[in-house]
Amino acid sequence: MVKVKVNDIEVDADPKDNCILAARKAGIEIPHYCWHESLSVVASCRMCLVEVGETKPDGTVAMGPKLVPGCQTPIKEGTIIRTDSSKVKTSQQMTLELLLLNHPLDCSICDQAGECYLQDYTYKYGKAHSRLDEPKIQREDKYHIGEQIALFTDRCVMCTRCVRFTREISGTAELQVVARGSHEEIDVFPETPCNNKLAGNVVDLCPVGALCSKDFLYKKRVWWLKHADSVCTGCSTGCSVQVDQNDNKVYRLRPRENPQAQGHFMCDEGRFGFKYIHDERRIKYPRLKNPPSNVNATARSTAPSDLSFADPWPTVLAEARKRIHSAIQNDPSGFVVVLSPFMTVEEAYLLASYIKGIDARTKLTLGPVPVVGSDDLYPKGPKGESPAAGKVKFTIRAEKCPNRNGIEAILRHFEGSVIHAESLGKSSASAWFVVGGSSSGWVNEKIDQAVGTPSLLIVQDIFPSPLSERADVVFAAGSFAERDGTYVNHAGLAQSTHASIRPPEEARADGRILMDLAGRAGLFNAMALRKEIGTKIPELSAIATGDLGEHGVRLAKFVNHTAAAKSS
Ligand code: SF4
Ligand code: SF4
Ligand code: FES
Repeated sequence: MVKVKVNDIEVDADPKDNCILAARKAGIEIPHYCWHESLSVVASCRMCLVEVGETKPDGTVAMGPKLVPGCQTPIKEGTIIRTDSSKVKTSQQMTLELLLLNHPLDCSICDQAGECYLQDYTYKYGKAHSRLDEPKIQREDKYHIGEQIALFTDRCVMCTRCVRFTREISGTAELQVVARGSHEEIDVFPETPCNNKLAGNVVDLCPVGALCSKDFLYKKRVWWLKHADSVCTGCSTGCSVQVDQNDNKVYRLRPRENPQAQGHFMCDEGRFGFKYIHDERRIKYPRLKNPPSNVNATARSTAPSDLSFADPWPTVLAEARKRIHSAIQNDPSGFVVVLSPFMTVEEAYLLASYIKGIDARTKLTLGPVPVVGSDDLYPKGPKGESPAAGKVKFTIRAEKCPNRNGIEAILRHFEGSVIHAESLGKSSASAWFVVGGSSSGWVNEKIDQAVGTPSLLIVQDIFPSPLSERADVVFAAGSFAERDGTYVNHAGLAQSTHASIRPPEEARADGRILMDLAGRAGLFNAMALRKEIGTKIPELSAIATGDLGEHGVRLAKFVNHTAAAKSS
């Protein structure tokens, strides 16, 4: 660490920091456009110009004669940074006036309004009037720039973050700067739109409203959105994300920076893959075959297997509990539970401890783990080849679920080993409790055959499946956006996810269903459960703190058993 002074505030900073990062540690913002922590430094926008000097051994201070870009200027012991001098303020005003010369000032119809650095910096560091009395240069908007992205060319401040992203992170290099001077603009090569699997990140990187997401365009003003910290469930990378919703509808997912997980970015599959949570086909009501005779007769006659009358859960849960106990009493080792890699650690723990608490001879298994192709590594080379080991900047993983590692830890604790439900073959189990939670049809032939037509079938899921169709009891469950809990990613990072919306109609978050089913007192509380799990299961002791922070915690001595088995 080195000591630097920013506007007379002394801070300890990393010698690898630039002036922007050092100032941030002192709580001081140096405005910037072209600089981004994950991209190379070009120092082209000049928004970050500051005064920099140093303290001489005799204690005197020598400031540099010129302003320097804070993004490109390293710090050392004794560096002095001034961001509040009249020289700096005049420079900031001039830079902003220049950037706004040809800007259309169409904030009222711009999607970025409310989270735009041109608006924010102009308000904080700019001036109220422009001296331009020439007509502004107008440029064509480019809707063709990508399947998911549109370019509002006039709004661009030519920071080139988007260009550098496609060269340095995706490696696909579709975006470029064309023309020169005040006529330069961002464009794609003919017939080569920016459609790589990470393309959506350029919208987040764009500090102004130039690159916009077509998916979100004109859907909602950003100041109406409420945010929740969550984790993408699209693959085992477990990207930290922010879920933005309004009025119980999710409008967009954006990456949440996490140096322990994926860094600053996310893939488009995860970014746009959340729509299923609002799919009309979701299971919205719990269902019970052959409900007891004391259930509302009208409801039973109009909807025999769908208890869509007010408050169906007490009936369904009481009946399910009765049937589970009776099935386990009759044939304990014939009662099989299938835990899903889409469940959270807390949900799996609740179900496992409930069933094993009735009879330890019951069997806990792991449901299908979806794997598609192989890991997709970035940045790509010129021919689309993967980067060499050590050069990987982003990975979309082949394992398309968020929590195999967390569920396996639960299974090892309660069952001693991980049994794959699919490996049971056409089993003779008499009762099954199967949990799904995947957005795509996860019931494959093997699991379908293994389950067969038992005397009791309970299914907890979000979409109908061949299993839910023939189930005796169906629990209408919650999607990732409707639940609190913990996922453990491919590298043993345990991250907490937070509910952002309510489940549709009478569906419930899985944790709440399982708390009630197990007859546990109180409301579902992920943090309290993490403390309980962490103290009882040594493999998961790292989560005993309850609060995993915004970046999560790593499991001690973590081994990715599936990866280890593959490589041996
Ligand atoms: S489109 Fe956005 S990210 Fe790209 S150069 Fe322009 S302002 Fe920067
Ligand atoms: S890489 Fe995986 S976890 Fe990250 S956004 Fe894509 S699908 Fe989601
Ligand atoms: S952020 Fe430093 S010059 Fe652009």
